Amino acid sequence: MKKHNKAIQEHYGQESLAATIMSALERAGKEIKVHTDTSTFDEFHIRGLEATTEIAELAGLKPGMTVLDLGSGVGGPARTIAAEYGCHVTGIDLVEEYCRTAEILTGMLGLGGKVTFRQGDMTDMPFVDGSYDRAFTMHTQMNVEDKSKLFNEVSRVLKPGGLFALYEICVGPNSPLHFPVPWADDPSISFLITPDELRGMLNDTGFGEIEWRDVSAPSLKWFQIQLELLSSAPKDAPPPLGLNLIMGPSFAEKFKNVFRNLEEDRVRVVQGVYQVRK
Ligand SMILES: C[S@@+](CC[C@H](N)C(=O)[O-])C[C@H]1O[C@@H](n2cnc3c(N)ncnc32)[C@H](O)[C@@H]1O
Repeated sequence: MKKHNKAIQEHYGQESLAATIMSALERAGKEIKVHTDTSTFDEFHIRGLEATTEIAELAGLKPGMTVLDLGSGVGGPARTIAAEYGCHVTGIDLVEEYCRTAEILTGMLGLGGKVTFRQGDMTDMPFVDGSYDRAFTMHTQMNVEDKSKLFNEVSRVLKPGGLFALYEICVGPNSPLHFPVPWADDPSISFLITPDELRGMLNDTGFGEIEWRDVSAPSLKWFQIQLELLSSAPKDAPPPLGLNLIMGPSFAEKFKNVFRNLEEDRVRVVQGVYQVRK
């Protein structure tokens, strides 16, 4: 196993996650029928469903395309893309319990024929060369120390001319970061680089930039709204069906720290789409 993988698995891994989610849904009397019913807790990134739609649009998804979701978490983005764009999506994630939970939710939402998940390392994937039309990743490369290895792998599994869309967190001009954050409790598994370094690395590993955006401002706004909603909830209200389900008891502290890091320009949120040159 690669250096840091065990620490990353321990960081995200939550025992019996699927059971925790099912009992929270039951307590809230919430039935899940369509993929948007779970989007408050299974889109594990800033700006939730809205950001997934942006990435899908950037990637120019069309019905029938084969799409790879790198670091698929509990599968919200993969299901959204299968349900709304008619694509066949494969998710890969390092955390076994996330993949198991993703499979369960996908089955319950009737998307099992279109979406599959596989436990594995996205820097060393069990997929054959040139097998996907599109690849995307959302809030994952922060945990990847050797990013050129990741981008070489993405280039390998994409078909010639395939597109790679990403929605990522980079380091801002100010430092250090306030920890803990959702991707790490301390700097040992947090490998942030600047937006320019990320773009340079993509270019050096055989990708041509089609579009690049800094979306830190709408991200900050989203945090302000979420934090206002959380603080205005009545004290005796049941816990929300939000990312607290996936992140556990340290959710509030990690969530507030990302907000603070954004507000103080210690992190930047970026989006882009690239074409593989091969
Ligand atoms: C913040 S979550 C985002 C999950 C998902 N992309 C989403 O937006 O809902 C980061 C995910 O990246 C995964 N991850 C980190 N490093 C990975 C690696 N080397 N290979 C596969 N997955 C990885 C983690 O296990 C975790 O599920």
